[in-house]
Amino acid sequence: MSAAAPPAAASKLFLREMTVRRGGRPVVRDVSIEIPAGEVTALLGPNGAGKSSLVLAVGGVLRERTGSVLLGDEDVCRARPERIRKAGIAIVPEGRRLLPDLTVDENLRVATYTLPRADAQAGRERALEMFPELNKRLTNPARALSGGEQQMVVLAQALVSRPRFVLIDELSLGLAPVVVNRLVPTIRTVAESGIGVLLIEQFATVALGLANRAYLMEGGQLHYSGTARELLEKPELLHQAYLLRGSDADGDGAAGSHPTPA
Ligand SMILES: Nc1ncnc2c1ncn2[C@@H]1O[C@H](COP(=O)(O)OP(=O)(O)OP(=O)(O)O)[C@@H](O)[C@H]1O
Ligand SMILES: [Mg+2]
Repeated sequence: MSAAAPPAAASKLFLREMTVRRGGRPVVRDVSIEIPAGEVTALLGPNGAGKSSLVLAVGGVLRERTGSVLLGDEDVCRARPERIRKAGIAIVPEGRRLLPDLTVDENLRVATYTLPRADAQAGRERALEMFPELNKRLTNPARALSGGEQQMVVLAQALVSRPRFVLIDELSLGLAPVVVNRLVPTIRTVAESGIGVLLIEQFATVALGLANRAYLMEGGQLHYSGTARELLEKPELLHQAYLLRGSDADGDGAAGSHPTPA
């Protein structure tokens, strides 16, 4: 146990020169990203860019990785998932995987089982404060929830361990615009609570509206990093990254739009 390491020391999570291999092939190459505490950082890029692979590697799920995952002086790049989580990094993987036959409450408990009881209780209360809707769903099986509610449980699962950094892969995938609009302020609240958020999001303007800084990945490599504002003001950079596809490429296309219904 490294009780000596003061958590406040890490004001950012620094992914340095990360390379990730899948099937023997590098799908992320030399990617460096800084995720400051208390801010949202956007990670954008077309399908197959390597965004999910990067998140899974940081979470310790993909083992074929090199580089550094730095929390202050501590490098957890070679650590196991439980250790990474304990160090304060939570990942929300793509695709909302809950245990469908367990209740919402049980799904939250699964996420806290390694924590001391008092921490688990505090984390659970904190997560439910952020998603008060879930209070009335606690005894429902997860499979009975809407996609948006399931996403809330997945986010709550990440937050119960009160991480210092959370990496969210595809917040809005498959969700109705009205649900995305409900989740957006929550991400802001999470960041304002001091947590550093890395947000991967298909709706570029949703991510850029929340983020301070943004990164663009393509073909496993970083193609741009700068302020979210700059990317919003220069949509051609997004076009170049093939974010806008087909007929979207000429207008306010799906990838660039806030999903507010007309
Ligand atoms: N299980 C796997 N085995 C081998 N290669 C994989 C596997 N999953 C993904 N890949 C490859 O890794 C590369 C990066 O994929 P990844 O899923 O990380 O991209 P992504 O940016 O998350 O894309 P998307 O926007 O579609 O979610 C792609 O070339 C993909 O084909
Ligand atoms: Mg992905």
